[in-house]
Amino acid sequence: MQEALFITLEGVEGAGKSSLMDYISELFTRAGLAVIQTREPGGTKTGEQIREILLDSNNIGLENNTELLLMFAARMQHLEEVIKPALASGQIVICDRFTDASYAYQGGGRGIEESRIQILEDWVQEGLKPDLTLLFDLDVEIGLRRAGKRSQADRFEQEDILFFERIRSCYLERANKEPTRFRIIDSGESLENVKQQIQKVLQEHL
Ligand code: TMP
Repeated sequence: MQEALFITLEGVEGAGKSSLMDYISELFTRAGLAVIQTREPGGTKTGEQIREILLDSNNIGLENNTELLLMFAARMQHLEEVIKPALASGQIVICDRFTDASYAYQGGGRGIEESRIQILEDWVQEGLKPDLTLLFDLDVEIGLRRAGKRSQADRFEQEDILFFERIRSCYLERANKEPTRFRIIDSGESLENVKQQIQKVLQEHL
């Protein structure tokens, strides 16, 4: 049986992680490995319903702690229904955002204390963590411009630039604290260069 691997993709808006997901999957499938692609918030029927609440820009009064709890409610369902079974059967799980996003957005961005997030992480994940996290790092202004061209702004994308600067700093801080799990991808480079960076990072698993 192939070795299960839990890979998460993180970064500020517009850093390109979602569009590079197919490329990353392809590298593994070409090597003959079974891969599933999923995302957070979402990844299950219930999780996608929770995602709609979280991203709906009409939900103006949503409390920061409600937002955090909804992220972890969706995550609990996702872990039980999708992630854990896939890992148990030896598959490679590639997840577009995971708990580092809660630390970066709800912690760094919204200002919720890290210790609260830690309690939820311990409860919901019971020690399960990604094996590898690719942090797609990019200048916030460039990222927001790219994201803005793609679609109408969701509830998060309507925040100001300082919110996203705090998120970027928090991600980079986390990456520096856990250099074995995190790999930083410079998303400011050309697409070809970004793909090369990804390939280099994944080489040992292919
Ligand atoms: P996406 O745009 O990458 O699909 O993610 C949806 C939004 O959800 C994005 O703005 C980041 C946010 N998010 C959090 O705030 N906390 C989390 O824990 C996760 C997984 C996502």
